[in-house]
Amino acid sequence: MVGGQWGDEGKGKIVDVLAEESDIIARYQGGANAGHTVHVGEEEFILHQIPSGILHPGKRCLMGNGVVLEPIQFFQEYDEAEARGISLEGRVGVSLRAHLLLPYHRLLDRAREGKSAQKIGTTGRGIGPAYEDKAGRRGVRVVDLLDEEEARNRLVEGRERARAKLAELGISDLGDVEECVETTLAVRERLLGLATDVGLEIYEGLKAGKEVLLEGAQGTALDLDHGTYPFVTSSITTAGGAASGSGIGPSSLHRVLGVMKAYTTRVGNGPLPSALPPEMDEKVRTLGAEFGATTGRPRRCGWFDGVLARYSARVNGFTGLAVTKLDVLDTLPEIFIATSYRTAEGEISEFPADTRSLETSEAVLERMPGWQASTAEVRKLEDLPRNARAYLDRIREITDTPIEMVGVGTRRNQIVHVA
Ligand code: IMP
Repeated sequence: MVGGQWGDEGKGKIVDVLAEESDIIARYQGGANAGHTVHVGEEEFILHQIPSGILHPGKRCLMGNGVVLEPIQFFQEYDEAEARGISLEGRVGVSLRAHLLLPYHRLLDRAREGKSAQKIGTTGRGIGPAYEDKAGRRGVRVVDLLDEEEARNRLVEGRERARAKLAELGISDLGDVEECVETTLAVRERLLGLATDVGLEIYEGLKAGKEVLLEGAQGTALDLDHGTYPFVTSSITTAGGAASGSGIGPSSLHRVLGVMKAYTTRVGNGPLPSALPPEMDEKVRTLGAEFGATTGRPRRCGWFDGVLARYSARVNGFTGLAVTKLDVLDTLPEIFIATSYRTAEGEISEFPADTRSLETSEAVLERMPGWQASTAEVRKLEDLPRNARAYLDRIREITDTPIEMVGVGTRRNQIVHVA
């Protein structure tokens, strides 16, 4: 399951539905920058690191080698879930190959954002610096904690390297970075207790006929390679990353579900070609409660971007779509879909590699009539208003991908399953 836009597509809810039919649920990239919101009955859960599959009793939930794991916050989330009555004993596993995200990564992320002329608008969770250390072959992996002395040396090295970089950036107050060696070593045994070979576990699970769900975070347009670089996250969010980030071969992936919101949102900096004019932006943000689950930042809103959606379907090889939050559009008299972009060089219909050209481009919009009726209680496709079905048909046509599910509200059961 992969986000088809700029993240925040409502993947938490879709994972929650799919988790029911899965035995193993694994995350394959990202870290605490994600925020999956799931509503169970009257309760709301916001999960940043642990896969949302934990809300289903008995499911095994794994963090793959592609994630960057922030151990302190991970255990806070773990303990909070247990305190709310979710038993996690034997249910959570962490890849031995996953890299640790440490307090100095967060400080570096924030310091760089503060100083940079070109701000990315990161979540400030240290994601970029943690993946930099991984790619630079100087990261600390879960497996590196096995030998305590070795772990201490690596952590001290990391901290001192970060101290020098921070000094260059004019930051001398290191806060919790000073104690990070001790705080990390304090959870060492607990973390090792959860450590496993995630790829092997999934491989054996598949051999034994188990259903495995790989849960993506962020979205295609935030992918390090395929997104609106440099306004992206530092991981491979697209479907290819699901195999490498969980440690299985791509031939094991037989279904790729793209999750797309019925409109578009973006948090953080970078172009949003189908952005709404201010008044409408405000309206959709309120209707859709579009505020970041991790940072609380208001999300910018736009019409459904057909150019991005088609690109997304292609680079991920989506076999089906889940269109979420259709109900947010219920009251609008007319709805638009971006079908191409008008750039300084002329009109284009393929999502461009040149992010700067996107910044100055304008979306060419196709108008569709609204349905102005509540869809919140609809559970069958044929019961959706005719104009809502026409809207979904147009999305299917643009992406050349069948729609499998439509979200019509925040509750678990507010889903239209398309046979
Ligand atoms: P980072 O992942 O914190 O480095 O942030 C890089 C970009 O990705 C910024 O534009 C963030 O706003 C965006 N981003 C990261 N995680 C999420 C997410 O879960 N939802 C939406 N945007 C995200």
